[in-house]
Amino acid sequence: MIAPATVQKIKDTMRVEEVIGDYVNLKRRGSNMIGLCPLHGEKTPSFNVNPARGIFKCFGCGEGGDAISFVQKHDSIGYVDALRVIARKYNISIEEVELSEEVRAEHQKAQALSLVNDFARDFYHEQLTENEEGKAIGLSYFKHRGYSDETIKKFELGFAPPRGDALKQAALAKGYQREYLKDLGLITKDGSRDFLRDRVVFPIHGYSGKVVAFAGRILKSNTKAPKYLNSPETELYNKSKILYGMHLAKSAVRREDHCLITEGYADVIALHQAGIENVVATSGTSLTSGHIRIIKRLTPKVIFLYDGDKAGIKAALRGLDMVLAEGMEVKLVLLPENHDPDSYVKEHGGEAFREYVKAEAKDFIGYKADLVEEEAMQDPIARANLVQDVLKSVAKVPDPILRAEYTRTIGTRFSLDEATLVQSLNNYLSKRYEEDRRKERVAQRNISKQLAQEAIPPPTEERRMEGPTPMEEDYPLEAFTGESHQSTVKQPVGQQHVFKDVFVERDIVSLLIKFSEQPFDPEAELSVADYLCAGLEEVLDTFEDKVCGQIARDCHGRQSRGESIGPDYWTSHSNDEVRDFAATVFTDKYVYSEGWFENFEISLTTQKMPELNWLVAAKRSIIRFKLTKLLRKMDQTTNRMRSAQEDGDEKSINRLLKLYSRMEAVKKKLSADLGSVVLR
Ligand code: UTP
Ligand code: MN
Repeated sequence: MIAPATVQKIKDTMRVEEVIGDYVNLKRRGSNMIGLCPLHGEKTPSFNVNPARGIFKCFGCGEGGDAISFVQKHDSIGYVDALRVIARKYNISIEEVELSEEVRAEHQKAQALSLVNDFARDFYHEQLTENEEGKAIGLSYFKHRGYSDETIKKFELGFAPPRGDALKQAALAKGYQREYLKDLGLITKDGSRDFLRDRVVFPIHGYSGKVVAFAGRILKSNTKAPKYLNSPETELYNKSKILYGMHLAKSAVRREDHCLITEGYADVIALHQAGIENVVATSGTSLTSGHIRIIKRLTPKVIFLYDGDKAGIKAALRGLDMVLAEGMEVKLVLLPENHDPDSYVKEHGGEAFREYVKAEAKDFIGYKADLVEEEAMQDPIARANLVQDVLKSVAKVPDPILRAEYTRTIGTRFSLDEATLVQSLNNYLSKRYEEDRRKERVAQRNISKQLAQEAIPPPTEERRMEGPTPMEEDYPLEAFTGESHQSTVKQPVGQQHVFKDVFVERDIVSLLIKFSEQPFDPEAELSVADYLCAGLEEVLDTFEDKVCGQIARDCHGRQSRGESIGPDYWTSHSNDEVRDFAATVFTDKYVYSEGWFENFEISLTTQKMPELNWLVAAKRSIIRFKLTKLLRKMDQTTNRMRSAQEDGDEKSINRLLKLYSRMEAVKKKLSADLGSVVLR
């Protein structure tokens, strides 16, 4: 964690024209400076730097900000890393401040694991380049595939020797812990052998370039063993969030403003070697919405490059609806029979490949139409089915304007009446909404179920005697209903509950920090913070998490006094924990709580979020917050009823029943609200 004094020093020292001048050739024009925008490709300069105000703005691509956000965007890194880059430029030494105990322990474990992976990467690479056996088997294989030394180095390729435990022995000799080797899946569970043996090794990197896993390709073709072996999921490796090659592709993806998605490691490597760098592959899994969201931070456009065989077409179609549902533009390129990108580029070269993609990239309507055109376009039933199929995909597109455009294209392409198409589309849309609502309901039921399961068993005589525990809190229902109620019986709170609440609380506070000054409703001049604070007003005291509560109250106070609550305020906050939290939020390390994320399909981690998304996120996070608190409260009430029943306390039972049904009603209302926010 960078000390606030250092942050201030960096900000005081940096000059926007000097920082950007390292990347862009700037010419003076009046009080501004102007150059070719490095964030998008252009031939005439529309990139403006204003030294007096310390900001830049590109009128071509619309990007803008200060020197720090420039470095963030250009290098595709987080806020803190950008600060480090600028500090290095000005030779400012960075003073670090201590992290909290818990955070530090987590960091240490992750760092230790990461070091072990680094060791394994170096070990495999040395085996490939310096060991006789490795050179004879592994290196000659790569050479045979046409990989240059530079490519081998760039992708940190390696070789896992045939001997059963070479890596293990080397790692233990260096003092690396056996447990960590197991945790990372580098050795077998029983610890006896290396996971990868007699295979060439492809390290798999995270977004920032750290090695998170390994894949090993078999060299013999006559065995039954799988062609590729991939590390299991670990603390560092979440398959549905890692894209192979992303660490090398990110700036090219941003620059070219589209991302090529291939099926294999070999494709990524071959394309890079041919000078095409905006390319990634999934590693050992099919494409997930997690992958899509990572790409969405950099560009709204993806191009699938799949083999022209049946499996390739299937994979492409599976990915298609997902990408559409994320509101992204998607094109498909099928390669000629018996070609994958790797073999194509090897045979025809990078230039031909680029041209092929340009010529063959089809939007999904054209693509699906082509598929059937060959066989069955004359068959009216097949035609009708195809149109319905395409409309189903269109229904996934969140943007109504795009939907309308697609519908028009379908009308033209199939000479169909647009009104009929729209009607059909609306059918699918309402089905989708229903499906969304059903998902919400299932999610909520799961939450209730979880809460019920995690609820502590009915209190025994003894425990009831103990009375309230210090951490116990009783939320006033009037915060949700506007009515007042008096609670007399108190119940201890289960630890698990606290944990769950913290997720919701963190989400909402992250939104507060990240988007506080974004307009929520430009006409009413309402910011996201205004909106969130107004919604939180009555529940400000119900935060479980100390830091989250503090941030929410602080934010509310400053917002009501009209003081600034922009990113700077949080990242240089006087309280260490608040500062840490803010830093995490801005460095992309913050992951919105898994369950919510998946259940509600909200893309919160994307940086280039379409306006709609954070508006929706803000609206929903408030409702979710209240809902979580309410569900917990209902749960407590159930417990109370249980003990009242044991006591035969009719009066309390009646009172609690009434309370419970009031809460039911509120829950219904909140659930309905949550459902309606999905409708866009
Ligand atoms: P391919 O079989 O198409 O391999 O699998 P490839 O990438 O063209 O590799 P080369 O050219 O034969 O070396 C495509 C991708 O599917 C995953 C890998 O990610 C691979 O790159 N895969 C394939 C596995 O994870 N395990 C396997 O056994 C096979
Ligand atoms: Mn291949």
